[in-house]
Amino acid sequence: MSPNPKDLLVLDRGHNTTCTIHLHGATVLSWILKGEEKIFLSPKAVFDNKKAIRGGIPVVFPCFGPWELGPAHGFARISRWEVIQEPKKTEAGDIRAILVLTDSESSRKLWNYSFRLTYTVTLAENSLVTDFSVTNKSSESFDFTCLLHTYFRVDDINTVSVSGLKGLKYADKVRDGNLFSEDREVVTIRENVDRVYIATENTHLISNTLDGKTLTISKSNFPDTVVWNPWKAKAAAMPDLGEESYPNMVCVEAGHVSSPVNLSAGATYNASQTLQA
Ligand code: BG6
Repeated sequence: MSPNPKDLLVLDRGHNTTCTIHLHGATVLSWILKGEEKIFLSPKAVFDNKKAIRGGIPVVFPCFGPWELGPAHGFARISRWEVIQEPKKTEAGDIRAILVLTDSESSRKLWNYSFRLTYTVTLAENSLVTDFSVTNKSSESFDFTCLLHTYFRVDDINTVSVSGLKGLKYADKVRDGNLFSEDREVVTIRENVDRVYIATENTHLISNTLDGKTLTISKSNFPDTVVWNPWKAKAAAMPDLGEESYPNMVCVEAGHVSSPVNLSAGATYNASQTLQA
């Protein structure tokens, strides 16, 4: 299934460098840098403007994980976002687009608050910058968790490693969410891994993504990092993924998830992620 071109926003800075955003969820589907796709999008992803898109960079808000009030990972990734700035050149020569999501009748039915999410996507020469902000437009404070659920494209998950996690505590979702300590300099993945690393370094290197290349994630105000790959059996059980795809993806997700953000009435929370090749 391919997305409908009418649902897409394309940022193009020439030299075969583009970023494509789907308005459903403001999901970045693709970041091509000098001809090379850096982001994993499942060949079985469904583009029905209802289901969350399997791959890319889904935006998780207002709840990471299962949510007693609504869909898992919240409603932002399955809501239609509005474009408030079409792709436009910045003074620095980058290409930037801005999307927003505000509360609606359907969001208030699940979560009765007034808010404005702003997502600014900037395609720079060698990097993709995603700035995320939440403004509380309600007359009372609210709590939320949020995360950018980035799926990286890799040649072979068996050779990938992630830095910046040594010595940290993590909740292992594969082991009932129990807390463990990471003692490895770099984290490798050889099985179903689903971990919420708490209070991580602001930079992670993902090594051996494509042709031995390293990608860097730099984050600000996203204190936690989730590392996820469902591995063979779980991937096989996901109709929009399939067992053939798990070796070609790794999710390294910057978020504020191990504790909620408490946002006062009228206040704005800002967080940001930069992917650098
Ligand atoms: C990860 C979670 O962030 O997302 C996993 O830690 C979850 O537990 C995964 O399985 C995918 O979630 P979903 O809802 O897109 O299938």
